Amino acid sequence: MTGGAGYIGSAIALALVDAGHDVVVLDDLSAGAAEAVVGARLVVAGIDDRAVLDRELPGVDVVVHCAARIVVAESIADPLGYHDANVARTIALLRACVDHGVLRVVQSSTAALYAEAPSLVVDEEAPIAPASPYAAGKAMVERILLDAGSLGLRSLVLRYFNPLGADPRGRVGMRGERGSHVLERLRGAWAERTPFTITGVRWPTRDGSGMRDYVHVWDLAEAHVAAVERFDDVVAHGSRVVNLGSGAGTTVRELVAAFEHVVGGRLEVVEGPPRPGDVAGARTTIDRARDELGWTPRRSLEDAIRDALAWAARDGAPATSQDDGLG
Ligand SMILES: NC(=O)c1ccc[n+]([C@@H]2O[C@H](COP(=O)([O-])OP(=O)(O)OC[C@H]3O[C@@H](n4cnc5c(N)ncnc54)[C@H](O)[C@@H]3O)[C@@H](O)[C@H]2O)c1
Repeated sequence: MTGGAGYIGSAIALALVDAGHDVVVLDDLSAGAAEAVVGARLVVAGIDDRAVLDRELPGVDVVVHCAARIVVAESIADPLGYHDANVARTIALLRACVDHGVLRVVQSSTAALYAEAPSLVVDEEAPIAPASPYAAGKAMVERILLDAGSLGLRSLVLRYFNPLGADPRGRVGMRGERGSHVLERLRGAWAERTPFTITGVRWPTRDGSGMRDYVHVWDLAEAHVAAVERFDDVVAHGSRVVNLGSGAGTTVRELVAAFEHVVGGRLEVVEGPPRPGDVAGARTTIDRARDELGWTPRRSLEDAIRDALAWAARDGAPATSQDDGLG
């Protein structure tokens, strides 16, 4: 499990441990925290550290590759650094996997690589048009995994929509500053009694505010357990892409209403212009996830908000969705 000390990876690793799997986390702690690794063995190293890979890979059944640099704006400022981290180092990891006969890879990918969809709905066949080096790197890795099929490598590519929330049992959640993410902004507005600004109110959505598909991070983690356990049924050879979202679109106004319901109060809301690079957004269909992984999301948006707020109150750290764009 690479990146298993990060926000999503720590949830996946713990869900795998809960399900009885033996998990080794490989993380260089560049963004993650050792305390986020619960019940798994942590190896602190880069994903391209060949000596560590030669030691750890023999006997591994599945690699879940979650490690990445993930900040879209940073990727625009440092495209070479991003492609080195997310593409070149992934190639080094995959080379070691192939050399050791570890031929099952579950890859963390992103809805950020889809083209804007006028229908506001995408499925796995929708056109892609990555709009940042971050998203382009994810698309390149998908292509590399596909090509590595000729080496016997099989891959299950999971494209996440907008993860939100924390472990419902409060063991892991988001740590550290994550910028101006929507739940963090809501939490700040509520705590400080300041107005919450809806950025963009003329999108072609049902109420004009932007739409996202929020998925509870624990639902996402459980999808990875299914991906690992069903791997051979889902991917006989080559690569298979599966979208992971709730299947429901939530507008910013609806998110505000859900937040208000959870905290039991009203926020002052003001309307502002869209931010540079914003998009109307989209939701995913979840038929493929249901049919092939046997997975459907079980938790509501309000569950995710409640779990994120409980984690933030417990940890003292911000609880946010990673990105209120398609991260
Ligand atoms: N958070 C989101 O909204 C979102 C959406 C779609 C896809 N994803 C994908 O999910 C994955 C996890 O995202 P996250 O939000 O948990 O990010 P995160 O930053 O919390 O976790 C990433 C982890 O990878 C580790 N890491 C980074 N580079 C490494 C390297 N070279 N070697 C070893 N470890 C390294 C970091 O220390 C960190 O623990 C990423 O692949 C990301 O692209 C995230």
